[in-house]
Amino acid sequence: MTRIAVIGGDGIGPEVTEQACRVLAAVDALGLARIEMRDFPHGADHFLETGETLSDATFFELRDEHDAILFGAVGDPRVPDGRHARDLLLGLRFRLDLFVNKRPLLMRAPDLSPLKRASEIEIDFVIYRENTEGMYGGHGRLEHEGTAEEVATSEATASRRAVERIVRLAFAAARSRHRSVTLSDKANAVPHMYGLWRRVFGEIAATCPDVRSETRYVDALAMELVRSPERFDIIVTENLIGDILSDLGAELIGGPGLAPSANINPGRHGLYEPVHGSAPDIAGRNRANPMGAVLSAALLLRDHGAAPAADLIESAVTEALLEGLRTPDVGGTATTTEVGDWLCQRVRAG
Ligand code: NAD
Ligand code: IPM
Ligand code: MN
Repeated sequence: MTRIAVIGGDGIGPEVTEQACRVLAAVDALGLARIEMRDFPHGADHFLETGETLSDATFFELRDEHDAILFGAVGDPRVPDGRHARDLLLGLRFRLDLFVNKRPLLMRAPDLSPLKRASEIEIDFVIYRENTEGMYGGHGRLEHEGTAEEVATSEATASRRAVERIVRLAFAAARSRHRSVTLSDKANAVPHMYGLWRRVFGEIAATCPDVRSETRYVDALAMELVRSPERFDIIVTENLIGDILSDLGAELIGGPGLAPSANINPGRHGLYEPVHGSAPDIAGRNRANPMGAVLSAALLLRDHGAAPAADLIESAVTEALLEGLRTPDVGGTATTTEVGDWLCQRVRAG
């Protein structure tokens, strides 16, 4: 039995998560997975009503009474400083020590890619984004606030331990898929943090002679990802670069509605969510693309011993796209719920 805590969150988060839950219920009914789901109300509404972002009590419940979290998105214009979103999403990533944010980018329907050459190539790479450090640690200070001398400092951190564990995982993944690993950094401009990344990457690469490895400055990599994304297999990088490259990657395969992610500490806990945010511009209109959320649920299943269920869901999504069952962001007219209906039916057909 996989016990899943469901946090829809804000904006389109609950809309897309609902479809992912329906698809999970469908694979459960088929006997391909045994799932128990429980909803948590956390998000902007809950914060504005109760003042709770993520209490210790909720955190322990999520950690100790569930095997995984299925997350929608957080971010609401009524909380302009995004405090609840940081406490919830970054709070869970940090407190559960979900050190790898794995973001697979597979092009399922070449006509959705903005690249001219899309139908001639395959895009299939995975970003391994370090998820606990970098600029995201919140370290920094404001001096002379509100004066002409005001200075804001945000510090980025990389610890050998954190870099080693994700780089090792990236190489292990490359080895099992007979693929290559690219480190993305900015070691030419920011030598302390990225120097450490380069040294650790080089040390681990030396122990894996069977895996092809290379380093790329992130600016050049951004160009190369647009010019020839088919060259890349596994990209490992720190938190902020990983955040930015994953949206670039999502756009290459057809847009933000299509990209899933898994925030994991392998064997311990995981939070699965689409790469996109709460999209307040389209919230409440039943027009959000639920595929990133549904594919995130498939990643959850794959990590919890239900690979056939994950395969079935992933192929249903590919089929839906190829048959033109598409929400407006990918050029169609289907609603969020129609896509969910279709996917459930397809899954039920086995
Ligand atoms: P966003 O991803 O929410 O939206 C960017 C654009 O993509 C918008 O035009 C939106 O309509 C579109 N889009 C996104 N997902 C879509 C989907 N499933 N279907 C169709 N269109 C989709 O990014 P943003 O506008 O920068 O951020 C909005 C809020 O979400 C902010 O508060 C931000 O902090 C938050 N955010 C949260 C997460 C998360 O919870 N993991 C991730 C990114 C952004
Ligand atoms: C993501 C999001 C988050 C991040 C935000 C909402 C803090 O953009 O999951 O990609 O930067 O990690
Ligand atoms: Mn992001």
